[in-house]
Amino acid sequence: MCGIVGYIGNKEAYPVLINGLKRLEYRGYDSAGIAIINGDTRIYKCKGKVSDLETFVKNKDVSGSIGMGHTRWATHGEPNNVNAHPHKSQYGHFVVIHNGIIENYSRLKTKLEKRGYTFKSQTDTEILANLIEYIYLKGKVSGEIAVRLALTKVIGTYGLIVSCKEEQNQLIAARNGSPLVVGIGKKEYYIASDATPIVEYTNSVIYLNDNDVAIIKKDELTIKTIHNDKQIPKIQTLDLDIGEIEKGGFDHFMLKEIFEQPKAILDTFRGRMSANKTDIYLGGLYNVLPKLVEAKRIIIIGCGTSWHAGLVGEYLIEEYAKIPVEVEYASEFRYRKPIIYKDDIIIAISQSGETADTLAAIKLAQESGAIVLGICNVVGSSIPRLTDAGVYTHAGPEIGVASTKAFTSQVTILTMMAMLLGKKRNVLSQEEYKNLIAELTKTPDKIALILKHCENIKNIAAKYKDATNFLYLGRGYFFPVALEGALKLKEISYIHAEGYPAAEMKHGPIALIDEKMPVVVIATKDKSYEKIVSNIQEIKARKGVVIAVVTEGDTVIKNLADHVIEIPDSDQALAPLLTVVPLQLLSYYIAVMRGCNVDQPRNLAKSVTVE
Ligand code: G6P
Repeated sequence: MCGIVGYIGNKEAYPVLINGLKRLEYRGYDSAGIAIINGDTRIYKCKGKVSDLETFVKNKDVSGSIGMGHTRWATHGEPNNVNAHPHKSQYGHFVVIHNGIIENYSRLKTKLEKRGYTFKSQTDTEILANLIEYIYLKGKVSGEIAVRLALTKVIGTYGLIVSCKEEQNQLIAARNGSPLVVGIGKKEYYIASDATPIVEYTNSVIYLNDNDVAIIKKDELTIKTIHNDKQIPKIQTLDLDIGEIEKGGFDHFMLKEIFEQPKAILDTFRGRMSANKTDIYLGGLYNVLPKLVEAKRIIIIGCGTSWHAGLVGEYLIEEYAKIPVEVEYASEFRYRKPIIYKDDIIIAISQSGETADTLAAIKLAQESGAIVLGICNVVGSSIPRLTDAGVYTHAGPEIGVASTKAFTSQVTILTMMAMLLGKKRNVLSQEEYKNLIAELTKTPDKIALILKHCENIKNIAAKYKDATNFLYLGRGYFFPVALEGALKLKEISYIHAEGYPAAEMKHGPIALIDEKMPVVVIATKDKSYEKIVSNIQEIKARKGVVIAVVTEGDTVIKNLADHVIEIPDSDQALAPLLTVVPLQLLSYYIAVMRGCNVDQPRNLAKSVTVE
């Protein structure tokens, strides 16, 4: 979702801003803009991609060593040149870029209109720029005070950068609910909504907290709250390598990330297993482990792919640890009146650690006194900072909007948690525990094998790239995998797809099946194998096309299905980690063959920081 980048220092700001905006493209956006502050303030903005902005500014004056840039994902007002950021206040004293949503914008707008303000755009950001200016002119206060006072009147979320015409030697950044990182260079500072635009210049960073306002000059940084309480900045070292946010020879980030899964899972194991691989340590849960072991109920919350990982977690934890688990969409959980007991354990799953609905659901759970744990990928993001304890997935930066390696890393953590709890609760014997760990450690190699045979999947993709609907079916552990497979296809190829529990097919989706309907069935050898074979027969009897993911060596389904994709044999509970990989590849190849923008699908955002 919207991206922010800012620079103040001695070098030219423009290349930093443009490169930064390119790094932020993955978040999802529909227009882009920059402001260069150099005597006057020059604003260039347009609908479309960062490359359109580059074309637009060609031969224009972009000189100056202070500036800000923005990629906008439309909330208030359609994507167009006027609504793109930056926004200037009516009398030109302030320029603002903003992520988030000002919820009371309508009331603020009416008040400002009564005081003679008119608005060019339909954005809430322009209202904020004018509110700051109104306070600045009326109160005859400094730009910083005007920003802080204005923010006390705002209800909603923001990550923003403001520049004041009369105080050109500084940028003011503020955060509430929408992340901002300040990178520290030599007599220069970088500001961004995540670390990706900063990492090539410095690895010294400060993550702003909610209600922080940073007053940034090229050689001085002051952080206060909006209520003027001085804050002591906590400087952290980024553990991020520039290579990790580049494509490394792959055509797309998504493909790179699919192929990175063996390594991502190994990195997720790293340091969390005893040397002889017979025990699991999840250091981040150490303090809460006794409560977790005794938990009467676990509630898992998340959105999108993270919610699917949560569903796999439910099956794992109930099977191995015998603790009842509920899985909820964070967006539903937060708005209904969920019953949360003090001794419930809530697990929030999020790749980005910034999803607005998940954050709000966590806050709700915390109000009820429950312990909240996080499973997140982005180090230092909001969810790990808000939760009582948690585990990082260590999948490395995920740039493709469609989540792949984050999913398998989340499932890996949930598998480890389920095993550990199972052992501690004496559901699993030492022998079973040891065997499962041994089996889990084989997963990266098995995924590598699946990836080796990607040509077969590519050929299947070529056959069905023009289909208009797909159905994905699975039972037990593979029902969430079916949901995830369907989501991947929808997200990047814009083909309608539905994931369904295979046994439910006869209660509805079977009516859709004809010779034009490819049905992807996860049909590995497990306890419901016979049943899934029957489901395949039901599809074939109605002339449906079956693409089956099977255990290698399977001959029964090979004779029934139109296509098979083989995966190595595995314990059923660990097989979601394997079966999802061909589905990721199938969506990827179909989307590429349909000419879709795989890494930045239309309308989607990587990190959804609005409700
Ligand atoms: C967006 C992304 C999805 C992701 C979901 C939840 O919709 O496009 O890939 O699964 O948000 O994000 P989170 O960062 O909380 O896992």
